[in-house]
Amino acid sequence: MNRICTMFFSPTGHTRKTVMGLAKKLSVLLKIDDVEHRDFTLPAERVRVPKYGEGDLLILGVPVIAGRVPNVLLPFLRELQGSGALGVPVVVYGNRNFDDALVELQDLMEDAGITTISGGAFVGEHSFSYSLGKNRPDESDMDILDKWAESLADRIRNGEPFLTVELPGVRPYRPYYVPRDRDGNSVDIRKVKPKTSDACINCKLCVKACPMGAIDYHNVRNYHNICIKCNACVKKCPVDAKYFDDADYIYHKEELEAMYGDLHRSPVFFVESGTNFSPQQPEYTK
Ligand SMILES: Cc1cc2nc3c(=O)[nH]c(=O)nc-3n(C[C@H](O)[C@H](O)[C@H](O)COP(=O)(O)O)c2cc1C
Repeated sequence: MNRICTMFFSPTGHTRKTVMGLAKKLSVLLKIDDVEHRDFTLPAERVRVPKYGEGDLLILGVPVIAGRVPNVLLPFLRELQGSGALGVPVVVYGNRNFDDALVELQDLMEDAGITTISGGAFVGEHSFSYSLGKNRPDESDMDILDKWAESLADRIRNGEPFLTVELPGVRPYRPYYVPRDRDGNSVDIRKVKPKTSDACINCKLCVKACPMGAIDYHNVRNYHNICIKCNACVKKCPVDAKYFDDADYIYHKEELEAMYGDLHRSPVFFVESGTNFSPQQPEYTK
């Protein structure tokens, strides 16, 4: 192997931190200087689909959305080509659960001809919240990431055969996770979009940050494309002018915080089928 490549979609940066952290550590351990990063968060970066091949290790990371790979990325990811490359799917989730996202990402890579020799699920701050998964991935997560890099580097040094690793998840994938109202009825928040307060200084940072290219440059209050509620515009706004006021969205966010706020989900990684690593400490309540 002579090149380490990353690809990541990361509206609020937690997937980016995880994927780039793994690539950096691996490049040191394997003494590979040729490292290429491809951030496909913005629409302009999803026009041309990259190709990978023999000699490449591709680390591909996405955030978990509704327990799955973000569906808006599927047309792009289905065009991926990587015959002969080795691959590592990485999902980052907001401390609820990654459900079937990791196996779905693995399948997309395998369909592209990439042999997925490892995979992992890490935790990042939840897009909807400032408290759920706060400061994750933190130092202890990054220590686990280092352990993963060490064990992956050992595996790569040991050489062939490189086999597809078994990852946790269910096939066929379970349906997308659906939010509920306070009576337990499912609600549809797909059309919900952020509002813009009078604090807005029209700096256009939100326009530049939106992974769906949905915010009108000439009127930043207007969302003319689908909003995936990644909160890039909300969290990157320098004057906190963007906010959600939809009652179902707010209830869902509060419910997630109440249900998962006191849990500490540990990252997991998998290097060889049968000898999977999950940290010794169980999920614990703070
Ligand atoms: C619409 C939507 C749905 C999400 N669904 C889940 C989920 O099912 N489980 C979970 O734990 N986190 C979920 N998250 C949280 C993200 O996976 C998490 O915040 C991740 O760190 C975001 O990555 P980024 O910082 O790279 O953008 C969801 C986020 C969004 C925007």
